[in-house]
Amino acid sequence: MKTETTIQGLTASLAPARTTKKLIGFVPTMGNLHEGHLTLVRAAKKICDVVVVSIFVNPIQFGAGEDFDSYPRTLEQDSRLLADVGCDIIFAPSVEQMYGKHPRLTNIRVGQITNDLCGESRPGHFDGVGTIVKRLFEIVAPTKAYFGEKDFQQLQIVKKMVAKNNLK
Ligand code: PAF
Repeated sequence: MKTETTIQGLTASLAPARTTKKLIGFVPTMGNLHEGHLTLVRAAKKICDVVVVSIFVNPIQFGAGEDFDSYPRTLEQDSRLLADVGCDIIFAPSVEQMYGKHPRLTNIRVGQITNDLCGESRPGHFDGVGTIVKRLFEIVAPTKAYFGEKDFQQLQIVKKMVAKNNLK
């Protein structure tokens, strides 16, 4: 298993799989992995040739007073768990690598769906999720991506963002 921290490194690691048209599975996470994440990785491994897991605590989905700074960063433990379930590549970039110097300037708008339900009490949260997932999809360019269904609104937002941006 490899760990890449730059877009360049990840692109280079995925190049052989792309040239040979291998199926690339992708599981986006913020780390601090639990059984739910590992189940997604196992599902990806069943179908895909190469499985990439991103570990990135995304600042722009945290609002003021939310727990961005204290969010658990457990890369070593996560790496061990991922190695056990056969993950091929961990992508663990820095904030600057993903957004440059001004994370919030890259924000996209996903639409009204982000303001409903949980979005009402977390303004900007789901636009932040849509933004990072779009950016990760552009970088990883997976054949298949895997999301938990527990966060139902997040899943609908990702589907909407994919449709809106023709990322299928
Ligand atoms: O569900 C999560 O862990 C995050 O919201 C996600 C999809 C990885 C985006 O940062």
